[in-house]
Amino acid sequence: MKLVTSVDDVSELTRSWREKGQKVVLVPTMGWFHEGHLSLMRMARKIGTRVIVSLFVNPIQFGPKEDLAAYPRDLERDRHLAEKEAVDVLFAPAVSDMFGQNFQTRVSLSLLSQGLCGSNRPGHFDGVATIVSKLFHISHPNCAVFGQKDLQQLAVIRQMVRDLNFDVEIVGHPIVRERDGLAMSSRNSYLTGDDRKNALCLYTAIIRCQKMVGNSRGKISITELISEAGRIIDSFPGCIAEYIQVVDRQSLKECQELDQNSVLALAVKVGGKVRLIDNAVLMDQ
Ligand code: PAF
Repeated sequence: MKLVTSVDDVSELTRSWREKGQKVVLVPTMGWFHEGHLSLMRMARKIGTRVIVSLFVNPIQFGPKEDLAAYPRDLERDRHLAEKEAVDVLFAPAVSDMFGQNFQTRVSLSLLSQGLCGSNRPGHFDGVATIVSKLFHISHPNCAVFGQKDLQQLAVIRQMVRDLNFDVEIVGHPIVRERDGLAMSSRNSYLTGDDRKNALCLYTAIIRCQKMVGNSRGKISITELISEAGRIIDSFPGCIAEYIQVVDRQSLKECQELDQNSVLALAVKVGGKVRLIDNAVLMDQ
């Protein structure tokens, strides 16, 4: 596996792969790899001839009060893990190489980046859309793999690809969970002691709501589901729901009635500091 830090070098290399007719699959990440990232890499390995993993803690998707400085980083650790997944290139550019001093462009989505996480993270999805479009231009992928845990991010990227005619196929990978159900996230490393136990409030609420939907054969009201999820989250010490919504998994519009595409989407602050998100379809597929 090659570690490449230069934008020009990676661009030249991936262009040459494309010219030879190789299928290039990109896995965009911010590093601190866990099993969720490694599963994305394995999926990329299955569908592509060449796998490129980008590792870039993107400053423009963090708000001024968010955890940019504290975000976990360890290039050597990540390099070792990516190598074991037979990744061809780990692309880890410097901030100065991605954003020159006079950088001033944003890719901005007017609707999908509002609501859910967008309500509490203004500018976040513009930062994500901007960096992902840069990564697409730099690394010439045929296909890019993203985790479904970031439901809104995936919807934003699919929309951006349609709107801006990127010739990139977007593949969503199912959420990877710890044995007890906690969705894997780099931010789980902030969870210590009781907070780690209490972080299970999200998965507990999901399982309970899925059961309620199953038992009622989909006849339960959305208000009832949301209030039950809220009750469960409140019953875990130090857990405060930021949002609890039932939305359509593509449009992210709030559902009026349950159907196969209805997703329970949650964001919760655990222990007053660690913000976790999770989601799941409510009906059996
Ligand atoms: O999901 C992430 O890790 C990031 O938001 C992404 C897609 C790599 C963009 O920085």
